[in-house]
Amino acid sequence: MRFPTRMLVTALGGALLVAVIGVSRETATQEASGGQAPPGLDEELSGISGDPGKPRRHFRVRNPARLEDDEARDIYAQIVDQMVAGYALSDDPSAVAYRSWRRYNRVPYLSATHGKRYINHYVNDAAKDYGRYEQAGEMPVGAIIAKDSFSVAQDGTAHDGPLFLMEKMAQGFNETSGDWRYTMIMPDGSVFGATLGVNAGGVAFCIDCHLMRESYDHLYFPPPADRRHF
Ligand code: HEC
Repeated sequence: MRFPTRMLVTALGGALLVAVIGVSRETATQEASGGQAPPGLDEELSGISGDPGKPRRHFRVRNPARLEDDEARDIYAQIVDQMVAGYALSDDPSAVAYRSWRRYNRVPYLSATHGKRYINHYVNDAAKDYGRYEQAGEMPVGAIIAKDSFSVAQDGTAHDGPLFLMEKMAQGFNETSGDWRYTMIMPDGSVFGATLGVNAGGVAFCIDCHLMRESYDHLYFPPPADRRHF
């Protein structure tokens, strides 16, 4: 019965997306000046990833809803190897390679669009202009940005979340996506979807939301306060 469930999720996702896009055109402009990011991905994902990954050990955190920087850093340091081991079960080379790439956020931070998910932005050499943020211009073919994620439940348990990838493909790959291929890899290494690949419809909502940042080559970047400058 996996197929009908997935179809239902996709259909629900589509309906949600219409709502999200409806209210978010305006927010996209605010976002350009470092404002509020559009809501919605969390709702999308809650339908998709019913299993948030295997529970990890308990962490003593002061407030699970919002971690202090040092708490987020410590938890991430303790679970990242296991996260990567899970992602690695996919056959996507970036799922392992991304760990050695440069990270562009200071500490794992709470994503505005991912509810309780803490995320990091890693970027490969080809995408090094990413660090110029809104001045980055168009990324070259071969640029890859990886965003890993985890969440911390009310009881202080850390859960690994999906790995989100954007890879700049050759010109003509997909006009709507700006030739980016979006891939979502689940914590157990299964590929939920990839643009023009497995379950492409399942990741169509990625393209739609990132399209609101078309003038920045579809990139959102971390919020200004969380950015690293090299
Ligand atoms: C509702 C809007 C929305 C949707 C849907 C969405 N994203 Fe994003 N994405 C963002 C925002 C906002 C950021 C900036 C970081 C953050 O706050 O999460 C981002 C950042 C990223 C980044 C880091 C590169 C960048 O733009 O700076 C990757 C990679 C990424 N998303 C992949 C995906 C994938 C894969 C999907 C689909 C599974 C997806 N996104 C769906 C809004 C969205």
